[in-house]
Amino acid sequence: MDFNGYVHGVETANQDKQHKPFGGVVPEIAGRNHTDNILPLIEKLLNKTNCGWDDLDGLVVTNRPGLVGSLLVGVITVKTLALALNKPFVAVNHLEGHLLAPFLKDEDFAPPKDFAYPFVALAVSGGHSHLYNVLGLGKYKILGKTLDDAAGEAFDKFAKLLGLGFPGGVKIDQKSKEGNHQAIKFPIGLEKSEDFNFSFSGLKSFAQRYVENLSAEDVENKLNDLCASYQEAIVDALMLKLNKAVEFLNAERAVITGGVSANSRLRARAEEWAQKKGIQIVVPPIRYCTDNAAMIGYVGIQKLNSGLRSDFNEGPSSNVYDEDFLN
Ligand code: KG4
Ligand code: ZN
Repeated sequence: MDFNGYVHGVETANQDKQHKPFGGVVPEIAGRNHTDNILPLIEKLLNKTNCGWDDLDGLVVTNRPGLVGSLLVGVITVKTLALALNKPFVAVNHLEGHLLAPFLKDEDFAPPKDFAYPFVALAVSGGHSHLYNVLGLGKYKILGKTLDDAAGEAFDKFAKLLGLGFPGGVKIDQKSKEGNHQAIKFPIGLEKSEDFNFSFSGLKSFAQRYVENLSAEDVENKLNDLCASYQEAIVDALMLKLNKAVEFLNAERAVITGGVSANSRLRARAEEWAQKKGIQIVVPPIRYCTDNAAMIGYVGIQKLNSGLRSDFNEGPSSNVYDEDFLN
């Protein structure tokens, strides 16, 4: 990536296959896979982009929040490279990466020319469902968040219940295309509350009871409708609170980011909503919505550009830092 945030190349190692038998991410397997993959991946990217180690001006790594065993591998690798190459490095917050992903540019994608701060961001992934007021680089105010499960978790748990495998979001998305989203009325979490929070645990329990009361044959026959209706309840909740936040702030721009923003129904509903409302919406392409290194690189480059450097005593952290978000 260059200093303007133009992505010259990205390499990703997907471990879904290794976690699939367990129905979710196994921390120890994740850490081991990172150890196996990280250096071959960096070398592959350097070769692909015709870059040598000396061409790098700095190194960026995400060190928070997340599974410490995985973050540890990235942090120690990047710190060691920075020391050996005598280059600066920056450790960044993973969520900040999702928030700034709409600024990424490459051969096939660029945000609209007039896209800029401030914007309301809905960040929805396997671990987070948050609404932010994004005021500028490093200036993020949390407006609301999930009180229990994240939206991605809600997708994954329902997929598991239906025997669709892991990760489930994309499977539910696919099945929903053939289903009727009005077939079953699933509850919308915190529908009547005045705040900007989400809750998906009620939906999860309702769905669990609903499916348990069906015969295996019924589940099979109604699979597409079940998926479409369940997906609709999640999308309804997300759009309800996004709309509320945009109205509250009188915002002119909105962003949807994180793994769940790959969801085709959420994308379609958001486009339609933004058009009706006359506001600008940017949903990054799927490759920059699900976890990726480019979004981390973008944040790091902005920080390096503003003179920020991390110290060699920086370590991994399962939580964000207090100073990551405004009060
Ligand atoms: O941001 P991400 O790649 O990783 C985390 O930081 O969690 O998000 C992963 C989540 C998973 O829960 C996955 O099921 C969900 O994003 N996801 C989707 C879709 N693609 C990925 N959820 C709904 N529809 C999709 N098309
Ligand atoms: Zn993520």
